[in-house]
Amino acid sequence: MNQENWSGITEAEVEQIVRRVLAAQGYAAARPEKPAGHRISAVKTSFFGQGSVKMLGPEIRKLGIRRALIVTDSFLAGNGAADRVRAVLEESGAACALFDRVQPNPTVQVVNECIARAKETGAELLAAVGGGSAIDTAKAASIVLKNGGRVEDYEGVNKSREPGIPIVVVNTTAGTGSECTTFYIVTDPSRGTKMAMIDPNCMVAIAVNDIDFMLSMPPKLTASTGLDALTHAIEAACATGANPYTDHDAYWAITAVTEYLPRAVRNGKDPEAREMMAYAENIAGMAFSNAGLGMVHAMAHALGGHSNLPHGVCNAVLLPYVLRYNSRDPEIRRRLERVAEAMHLPERTPEAVIRKTHQMAVELGIPPTLREAAAGKVTPEAFGTLADLALRDSCMATNLITPTRGEVIQTYENAWNGNL
Ligand SMILES: NC(=O)c1ccc[n+]([C@@H]2O[C@H](COP(=O)([O-])OP(=O)(O)OC[C@H]3O[C@@H](n4cnc5c(N)ncnc54)[C@H](O)[C@@H]3O)[C@@H](O)[C@H]2O)c1
Ligand SMILES: [Fe+2]
Repeated sequence: MNQENWSGITEAEVEQIVRRVLAAQGYAAARPEKPAGHRISAVKTSFFGQGSVKMLGPEIRKLGIRRALIVTDSFLAGNGAADRVRAVLEESGAACALFDRVQPNPTVQVVNECIARAKETGAELLAAVGGGSAIDTAKAASIVLKNGGRVEDYEGVNKSREPGIPIVVVNTTAGTGSECTTFYIVTDPSRGTKMAMIDPNCMVAIAVNDIDFMLSMPPKLTASTGLDALTHAIEAACATGANPYTDHDAYWAITAVTEYLPRAVRNGKDPEAREMMAYAENIAGMAFSNAGLGMVHAMAHALGGHSNLPHGVCNAVLLPYVLRYNSRDPEIRRRLERVAEAMHLPERTPEAVIRKTHQMAVELGIPPTLREAAAGKVTPEAFGTLADLALRDSCMATNLITPTRGEVIQTYENAWNGNL
């Protein structure tokens, strides 16, 4: 509740003025607005477990879908994954067409091609088979198919009028959590960045996390997507929208990823490790979808849009350096002590979390510095532009403190030089 102080202006107004003055002077550490309350959105139906793709059949029949479009990439169209989903859909009465032109970090153009294919085939349902890229392509297409306009019109928060056409997902990475989130991410090459759309209208109808579709992930992909999930959970724990519901998910996912990701990377056929990662990435998705993300994702979106580096690699490289920056804030330090506890670290301090996230990424094969990760794709001259884009990214709004442009540039430089 706003309280009036002696000068007749409210506390909230004072905070606004202070924030504006600090920003104008180039100082940081302004605290974004606290949300008025917490909305919790969840997918209506999710299936987990090996072989659970079959559970999709009766649901498709119930929905009475006659024509579906499978949204995937050429690799998953060729390795049998898309065919297995097609078989389930066709047995349930839905004739399937194929769109297999999804690319990692999908662009506006990929989404437009998917929309055209959906219109041409009269699709009543989009069936995404893949990781975040296929799922986000389907989400973006579904919103535009129902609401009209251009993909770019939906950048930001809650921009569409009504839910998109129905989507079912068979997730193949662990992962982005996109199968259960209110987010979708589309690259805009004209601005060299990724647009973050946050909108409950994009949520999928049915999500399948069946490890039969994840066992084929090579170690590098397992590592980068698993570290994306860890970043989701840590950022959710530290975000402005964190609440008891999302904390429960975030800290559980942090524990699970810390324990099971190294096992899944060492042996991709370890069913228990794959199964636990399938739950962990989904639960981390629920945490961030309802609490928000933060500065790691804001900086990773700018970096990924500019360089086309895998999203998980961008996060894994930036995470410890952003935690170092964020740990100047007492509230974030308090939350990172809980993160240390969830990771079962002997020392319950933010510094221990910073060291652990760096060490874990390096042990799982992620380059230790941005200089090595982005060799030939980015140079430090781009950091000013990347900082401008990161500061405008929707994910920055839910970081507990707001950095200045100079501090974002410094954080990219620290990651570049390995200055932890
Ligand atoms: N919507 C969200 O909530 C959200 C959250 C985080 C990230 N994202 C976005 O998701 C995208 C990244 O998704 P991703 O990390 O899941 O990777 P991806 O979907 O881009 O896939 C990466 C590569 O892995 C291959 N692949 C996928 N599954 C495989 C399997 N089982 N076996 C072998 N190869 C496989 C794909 O063919 C592709 O070449 C980025 O665009 C990112 O910004 C979205
Ligand atoms: Fe992510």
